[in-house]
Amino acid sequence: MAESLRVGIAGLGTVGASVVRVLTEKAAELTRQCGRTITVTAVSARHRDKDRGVDLSKVSWFENPVDLARSNEIDVFIELIGGDEGPARDSVKAALEAGRHVVTANKALLAKHGVALAEIAEKKGVLLNYEAAVAGGIPVIKTMREAMAGNSVNRVFGILNGTCNYILTRMEAEGLSFEACLKDAQRLGYAEADPTFDIEGNDTAHKLAILTSLAFGHKIAADDIYLEGISNITQADIRAAAELGYRIKLLGVAQRTESGIEQRVHPTMVPTASVIAQVHGVINAVAIETDILGELLLSGPGAGGNATASAVVGDIADIAKSRPGFQHGPVFGRPAKELKPYKKAQMRSHAGGYFIRLTVHDRVGVFASVAKRMADNDISLESIVQHAVGPETVDKKTVILVTHETTEAAVRKAVEAITKDGHLTDKAQVIRIERAG
Ligand SMILES: NC(=O)c1ccc[n+]([C@@H]2O[C@H](COP(=O)([O-])OP(=O)(O)OC[C@H]3O[C@@H](n4cnc5c(N)ncnc54)[C@H](OP(=O)(O)O)[C@@H]3O)[C@@H](O)[C@H]2O)c1
Repeated sequence: MAESLRVGIAGLGTVGASVVRVLTEKAAELTRQCGRTITVTAVSARHRDKDRGVDLSKVSWFENPVDLARSNEIDVFIELIGGDEGPARDSVKAALEAGRHVVTANKALLAKHGVALAEIAEKKGVLLNYEAAVAGGIPVIKTMREAMAGNSVNRVFGILNGTCNYILTRMEAEGLSFEACLKDAQRLGYAEADPTFDIEGNDTAHKLAILTSLAFGHKIAADDIYLEGISNITQADIRAAAELGYRIKLLGVAQRTESGIEQRVHPTMVPTASVIAQVHGVINAVAIETDILGELLLSGPGAGGNATASAVVGDIADIAKSRPGFQHGPVFGRPAKELKPYKKAQMRSHAGGYFIRLTVHDRVGVFASVAKRMADNDISLESIVQHAVGPETVDKKTVILVTHETTEAAVRKAVEAITKDGHLTDKAQVIRIERAG
């Protein structure tokens, strides 16, 4: 049998401790599958005495993850600290430069420094595996990088943040407010004490940026993503969506267009009958649309110790199975030096259907004026419906418009004109409609 693969793990929190546990509990099965044993030889975290529910008595302890990354005691460095700078970046860079394979679950790090790190890995001939960084346990990286060779991707989109999907699912199922669902998500441990990063779409954007690079062969451009979170989604939107045959999901979407690549994260109306609309709660899903395969949808647990550890252990097993001297495939599907510069499509030229909810003064002529502003901007309407918001607000009416395919620029101009006309009592709500099978 080949020599044991020696693993060093930096970060022993939710994911790190689960990885140690899975490697211990599944040792015999992993040995059979990989043809060699996998041994955790060294670890690093901040608090040495913390009980992590795993036996670390025979494992070397490193105060500094960078020292662990360079240590001769390991063949593979596993980074499970988190953060896009500091110890995570320093240790991954040090490990790659020292010729160690690296496995990480850190989307923030890859979104910011992925291409530079991939260049080092490729120069050194080592692997930089990151299956757990996007959609947790769902094997989307391997699927896109390996199983879809030869396919040209047209669009990749997904539900990439379990916290947002949990909140939207409960808002719809139970008629609760955004704030009430967020509180419950925090109580149940699905949302952080400071949930901004999740609910404003930044976490989805990090994962989308990695998928975009894999899909289209561009450099990662996480700062060039159109971003809108879910905090302004109300029951009025959820109910109107349901009446119209849609469900609201926070999607990350990357799409090839004539003017470049669109990358956008925003609340999206998807047809209630579509497969992605059936993805509820903390579950994640990624849809990939290609010329050869058509549309593929992968769905499963996107976070949590076990699901994330499953992806990390899969990455470690791939390294255990690889043979010395074997030339490894490029980190983002194409050699990092050959990734094209990102060509951004302007959001204003985004084409699609739109849902527009207007709360207007109950005056004669408002309805006709709204319809005229749409026509002025060449927006063709699939439907326009008017009804009172409720008996207590008889002076206000809600007008809900659904457009046929139009452009973002036209919708923005029309809404601006309607706002200037002075008919609105509240800010207009605009939600994009996404085609989904
Ligand atoms: N949790 C999930 O469901 C999930 C899913 C997908 C991806 N991820 C990614 O996985 C990574 C880890 O997430 P997590 O949820 O496991 O985080 P976590 O529970 O907060 O654990 C972080 C670990 O890093 C250690 N650490 C922090 N600073 C350190 C330093 N300077 N030197 C050494 N160790 C240090 C901490 O040590 P102490 O324990 O001693 O404080 C802790 O063990 C992140 O990149 C995250 O984005 C997480």
